[in-house]
Amino acid sequence: MIVVLMGYMGSGKSTIGKDLAKVLDYRFLDLDEYISEKENATIKDIFDSSGEIYFRKKENHYLNEILNSQENKVLALGGGTPCYGRNLKLLLDNSQVKLFYLKLSIPLLAKRLYNEREKRPLINHISSESELVEFIGKHLFERTYYYNQAQYTIDIDNKSKKETLETIL
Ligand code: S3P
Repeated sequence: MIVVLMGYMGSGKSTIGKDLAKVLDYRFLDLDEYISEKENATIKDIFDSSGEIYFRKKENHYLNEILNSQENKVLALGGGTPCYGRNLKLLLDNSQVKLFYLKLSIPLLAKRLYNEREKRPLINHISSESELVEFIGKHLFERTYYYNQAQYTIDIDNKSKKETLETIL
């Protein structure tokens, strides 16, 4: 089984994913980390030196690579992964995959992301929390179409990490 976590940047995919993998005794993979290791560069460096289109090609390539292995695992996607090319279809058509959307409200996402925006190429130009709220609002509006196709949606606004884990399990 491949437990796949999707959701906007800052929704806790990697944190929850690591804990979930421990409980299930599965391997944990973070798609961004996997890309960084294979390409020997940070995500920010890939965006800066080769651009977003190149990043999306690599993201699709490595997602395919990960999904092609039969080993049980928990996979945290990048926030944009399901929204590009055939990635969502790849996930939905794979019978090993259980696809979860970790859903968090815009103000909470903005609060979490504001101090971490330096390393995130899509939001590092933003200079105030209110501007970030506005940006996330528009961006999430475009992405909700994809996120809503998850097999399971978990509203995590009022859930502790432990409650989120229990709900997924
Ligand atoms: C992106 C999210 C990032 C990373 C890249 C693009 C996006 O992953 O893949 O910066 O398009 O939302 P996280 O969701 O892990 O921050």
